[in-house]
Amino acid sequence: MLHLEAATDPGWAERAVAHLDEILLDHAHLEKKAAGTAVTLLFRHPEIAALQQPLAALAREELAHFEGVLAHLARRGVPFARQKPGRYAGRLHAIARSDPAHQLLDTLLVAALIEARSCERLGLLADALEPVDAELAAYYRSLLASEARHHGEYLQLAETCHSAETVRVRLAEIAAHEASIVRGAGFEPRLHG
Ligand SMILES: [Fe+2]
Ligand SMILES: [Fe+2]
Repeated sequence: MLHLEAATDPGWAERAVAHLDEILLDHAHLEKKAAGTAVTLLFRHPEIAALQQPLAALAREELAHFEGVLAHLARRGVPFARQKPGRYAGRLHAIARSDPAHQLLDTLLVAALIEARSCERLGLLADALEPVDAELAAYYRSLLASEARHHGEYLQLAETCHSAETVRVRLAEIAAHEASIVRGAGFEPRLHG
């Protein structure tokens, strides 16, 4: 279960496939950022033993995805390049509280929802890509299980630090915020755009 409150617009995948190289470049950056989020949490919270191994494994897995997407960029002849940040992540992180009592919980739940949205979109892309680039479609399909698992792992980590009820209530608030961003966003050639 991905805990997403809004489904992606059904026309999104077709528009994304029309901008496939930009989407693929954006996806590469997202995998790198996902690894960075996990590593940042490791550095920020060395005092929480329960976070260390799961986040180290998650960071490794995201870096492997980054390498996988780099290989597909190279195969399609798309050079890796710097990219301006998309609007989604900034808007989503705006709901995260920065005080010490809540920062970790909100960061874990925002990360959980980013994983969930990535999983949903990669699935939509995999279906739409089948006739266009079957190799990439298969690669995207191979990522779905790990992104869904990452979603669940971030929720479990949140529950190691807070009660299940606290996590449930805050997850619902952040999921509603995420859904409002997705519903209100015009199309950008981004995985979360
Ligand atoms: Fe990933
Ligand atoms: Fe992930």
